[in-house]
Amino acid sequence: MINEFDSTLKEKLISFAIIIEKELGLSFRSEQKLYDLYVKLFDIFSSTNTKEKVISIIDSINLKREIPKDLLTPIANILTINETYFFRESNIYPLLKSYIDKIVSLESVRDIKIWSAGCSSGEEPYSIAIFIKENYPKDIVSRVKIIASDISEKALQKATKGVFSKWSFRDVKTGIIDKYFQQNNGEFHILDSVKEMVVFKNLNLISNNYPDYGKGLFDLDVILCRNVLMYFSEESIGHISNKFFNSLLSNGILITSAVEMNDLIFKNFIREIYGECIFYRKVTNNTQLDKKESSNSKNKSSIVKIEKRKKQEIISNSTIKKTSIYIPPKEHLTKSIDYIRELANRGELDLAVRELNILIENGRSESIIYYLYALVLSEKKETSKALNMCQKALYLDSQNLEAMILSGFLYMECNQKEKAIKSFQTSLKIMEKSSDKELNTLFEEGINGSRLKEIIESLYIDLDSNG
Ligand SMILES: C[S@@+](CC[C@H](N)C(=O)[O-])C[C@H]1O[C@@H](n2cnc3c(N)ncnc32)[C@H](O)[C@@H]1O
Repeated sequence: MINEFDSTLKEKLISFAIIIEKELGLSFRSEQKLYDLYVKLFDIFSSTNTKEKVISIIDSINLKREIPKDLLTPIANILTINETYFFRESNIYPLLKSYIDKIVSLESVRDIKIWSAGCSSGEEPYSIAIFIKENYPKDIVSRVKIIASDISEKALQKATKGVFSKWSFRDVKTGIIDKYFQQNNGEFHILDSVKEMVVFKNLNLISNNYPDYGKGLFDLDVILCRNVLMYFSEESIGHISNKFFNSLLSNGILITSAVEMNDLIFKNFIREIYGECIFYRKVTNNTQLDKKESSNSKNKSSIVKIEKRKKQEIISNSTIKKTSIYIPPKEHLTKSIDYIRELANRGELDLAVRELNILIENGRSESIIYYLYALVLSEKKETSKALNMCQKALYLDSQNLEAMILSGFLYMECNQKEKAIKSFQTSLKIMEKSSDKELNTLFEEGINGSRLKEIIESLYIDLDSNG
């Protein structure tokens, strides 16, 4: 399909796509996307629907290295994808409720500011307004300010009109439609009482026009930017991420859609989970390190020093090599565990602890969580706390081999030799019952089942023969 281009046209389109990316954030880097861009250009310049004319406009934009102001709106209108509907991805609502409840309980006066960034034709901000009305009394409703923005003038015009078709309600209960919309000839008109809760603005997210005190885009509590950034290049998202960070209050939250989550790009934020929703929080005061135990660790026994290398061989291999960053809500335990391993690999031990606490606070009680917690605390040299977590892991699953082995090492570090011997002995028994396949996959790299047995046996024999 791209073969239809001659190489000169392709070069022109590449230059044009670079300008689009710079000015709108939208990325057209693959050949297929470049082709889509070319086809769409005919829609933008429909009155001049000849190949020569379209190419001459591309040439003039390429020459100026910017899109003239009068073309920016039609280009944005046609290149953006405005698909949206009411109460889309509804896993965010329990999170919003809990966030607002907290503010209301702590602060009795201030406004709560929510920004729907990339709101399209308004279904997202109006859904939030309806949700607030459904859940809070009038005095709280009046404190919630919803700002909604988009680059597409066409989408904003539809949003301010507030008239929708049935298609916008594919995920909404009829009770809500009857309560907040008036039906007229198959169209659904949103009530003024909802409409007036939302202020719409035209804003290009790639611009530097925010934080903006005039538009109220500062000290925000919540930014929703969902199903917008997936069309952007990583560089553009990085730029927007910083600007979102600066526009939020400390402790404010950023909600993207699950597919847009990327902890490397949103690196200023801390990822958190609430129910089925994963989101980013702006945290400005880092948790203090608990250095107390760390300094105590200088009193290591000689056994520990001798065996440190063996422990290192096992422990370092147990935190490795999972690279997944994106976390779909439904699978969040497995993915969270991968993510925690990833954090531990990168030495982000405090962040790993934070993630583990969130899992536990959310009622998770799998043995692996407590084992990972023990592992991270052991890396932080908080040995007695690590041991405590290890015991919890083993209480939940007495056959958790990793936890059993780790407890052996931790007992050694605490000079509790008898208990260490017992842990290694039990580890060997668990290993006897495990298949080679199970043991081989336990530690992901470097240590196969027989090497593991060898290490534990030698530790057990050394300890036992030392009396
Ligand atoms: C698919 S809609 C998402 C609507 C809504 N957030 C949702 O999740 O249903 C994406 C919206 O992002 C807007 N958009 C794309 N690029 C933008 C930019 N550079 N600045 C502001 N909005 C942009 C589009 O105009 C479009 O309305």
